[in-house]
Amino acid sequence: MTTEKLKELLNDMSLDEKIGQMLQVSGLFYGDDDALTTGGLDYFKATDEEKLRAGSILSISGAEKLKKLQTRLMEKQPHHIPQIFMLDIINGYETIFPVPLAQGASFNPDMAEKCAQVAAKEGAAAGIHVTFSPMADLCRDGRWGRVMEGYGEDSYLNSKMSISTVRGYQGKDIKEKGNLAACVKHFAAYGGGEAGRDYDTVEVSERTLRESFLPAYKACIDENVKLVMTSFNTLNQVPSTANKWLMKDVLRDEMKFDGVLISDYGAVKELVPHGIARDEKEAALLAVNAGVDIDMMSLAYIRNIKSLIKEGKLSQSQIDDSVWKILCLKNELGLFENPYKDADQEEQNRLCLCKEHRELAREAASDSFVLLKNEDTLPLDSSNKKQKIAFIGPFAKSHEVFGSWSFPTDPSKMTSIEEGMKNFTSVNSNVEALFAEGCQLFGHDFKLKDGRRFTYDPAKKEVLLSEALETAKNADKVVLCLGEHQQMTGEAASRTQMTIPEEQMELLRKVSEVNPNVITLVFAGRPLELEEASKLSKALMMVWFPGCETGNAIADVLFGAKEPGGRCPMSFPYRTSQEPCHYNRFRSGRPNNGTLEQGFVMGYIDQIDRTLYPFGYGLTYTNFEYSPVSLNGNELSEGKPLSATVTVKNSGNRKGTETVQMYIQDIYGSTVRPVRTLKGFEKVTLEPGESKNISFEITEEMFRFYDINMNFKSEEGACRVYIGPDCLTENGADFNLI
Ligand code: GLC
Repeated sequence: MTTEKLKELLNDMSLDEKIGQMLQVSGLFYGDDDALTTGGLDYFKATDEEKLRAGSILSISGAEKLKKLQTRLMEKQPHHIPQIFMLDIINGYETIFPVPLAQGASFNPDMAEKCAQVAAKEGAAAGIHVTFSPMADLCRDGRWGRVMEGYGEDSYLNSKMSISTVRGYQGKDIKEKGNLAACVKHFAAYGGGEAGRDYDTVEVSERTLRESFLPAYKACIDENVKLVMTSFNTLNQVPSTANKWLMKDVLRDEMKFDGVLISDYGAVKELVPHGIARDEKEAALLAVNAGVDIDMMSLAYIRNIKSLIKEGKLSQSQIDDSVWKILCLKNELGLFENPYKDADQEEQNRLCLCKEHRELAREAASDSFVLLKNEDTLPLDSSNKKQKIAFIGPFAKSHEVFGSWSFPTDPSKMTSIEEGMKNFTSVNSNVEALFAEGCQLFGHDFKLKDGRRFTYDPAKKEVLLSEALETAKNADKVVLCLGEHQQMTGEAASRTQMTIPEEQMELLRKVSEVNPNVITLVFAGRPLELEEASKLSKALMMVWFPGCETGNAIADVLFGAKEPGGRCPMSFPYRTSQEPCHYNRFRSGRPNNGTLEQGFVMGYIDQIDRTLYPFGYGLTYTNFEYSPVSLNGNELSEGKPLSATVTVKNSGNRKGTETVQMYIQDIYGSTVRPVRTLKGFEKVTLEPGESKNISFEITEEMFRFYDINMNFKSEEGACRVYIGPDCLTENGADFNLI
């Protein structure tokens, strides 16, 4: 539709119709029992009339279903305006990819883009127009359940992965077949919740907000993301959804975002329990004045905007501004010409979990695994001798390996380790795979977030254990498949202890006594405390929640067809109580030396102030050597970048891929500066003995920060660049910024 026609439509709409466009309702309220439940429902008492006026619908999908619903609702709309269908497609629609934190671990933006492209194709064929993804929240505290949905603790990695995901969803034109509009969330700084508690207060200086939390959202806006979602949290005592400074001054005026701003689920009405609105009428007033265009799953807008206009507290033009953005999005999606866009049941059935998509998921999974320890154990050799490998633990046969923000129609289609090993042994007769559950997930009853109740059965304990020990005794090597249940991660899943459940640790201790050749695979959506697991294992690998190709990808990596491509996207503390322990913190006036021998220094008296596994760390199946860093000069200035080069050599006997990382450090500043900050990474694959020069450009812009007067600029002085395999590398070179 032409802009002129769209303007005519807007002008012809009644106020009721316009306000209806600003309401988003869950598909559950249109008689669809399969719709996802991603928030509360009981409070939502919309009338049929209100539901029919809604301008967009979330949490429902399926080509035939949405075509019928679109037809039915358009008929009821006075101007037959089409719905937008929005869904949380976080790590895949039916072809489920590794959870976002695992994708962050891959340090592979290109892979993330490909995964997002596939997710978009499948989602679009299923009738979806918008995905509530990527989550670009900086995640520094592993206690927060939603670190699973982010790309980790570093702003640069977060930005790179988020940009690629937006690009993968949106392509060149969201109207084109197979593309979705993306919605970056949760604006802003949702990951900064106090003590990792979900929905809790975020208190962060404007300087840290701008230097660390905002860049990834800004990167998505610069990548032309079509929607932004508000966050549940307060930001420095003002809830984001009512935060005019954040939404008008920063998002609209500074970041130049002119797309649709949608609230999170019920977040407008939640301004009342936040204590910033006396009632939903005041909540609506605050949110409209903050520029929130769509009220997701709350009736604050539809029941109050009209009277607020009558009372002169809101203007018709404010409503027109929001509705205009919504109509423009529908128009950009091509919905006025084709309200069904790509919805096509046959195409949906053909695409979902097709061989090509599964192969990508399999590659993405192995590329995300982080090998944390390997005492001459992996890869297992399946070539020249018969061997029995025992797979023991509650994850050995589990299909729940796809994360808590994915909803495959049939979870049994998520390849388990057992199924992956069946595939592997069907073509590798030297290997016999044995299986034993070993233990229950927990040693107590546990209510899973999705409402299921896990009931612990004490009578099963000894039976499972003795079977597991017998299996372990009869095996050459044992693969322990342990971790946190996927419903212990994601929204509303903060934990006070980032641990493998004790019931499973007991199993690990007992099995390692009867067979020391232990390889431990850890399923999790966050860093966990792994010091003991590491001591009891010859090899230790984070597999996160790998998605629909879990079993095949694990077989690929265990037996060397693939190498583990991941690096730590978050620091792994020794103890949860060290959180947050992100690498790029400030020195303090009393830095410690990583021991407990000093007095009066930063840190603890009962734990060395270091991480078990640092950001960027991960082993490969070969070894890499780095030359010293060489610079093509020793002065950096605006417009005159430096080039920093290392020669990386594969000094092992297997082909391998190294994730070369480049960090910068501003030695001094008018405000303290991080001990170092990631500003570049490159994955390089080398044959045994092969070397390659890897260069990174260092620019003056990289050193800009909010100085003592909050001016965003770099400062002259001594600087340092580090290039190496993780954030602790001391392979560096000095130069001056002039
Ligand atoms: C949830 C989440 C948000 C999601 C939305 C719609 O509460 O916070 O990430 O996109 O509701 O399901």
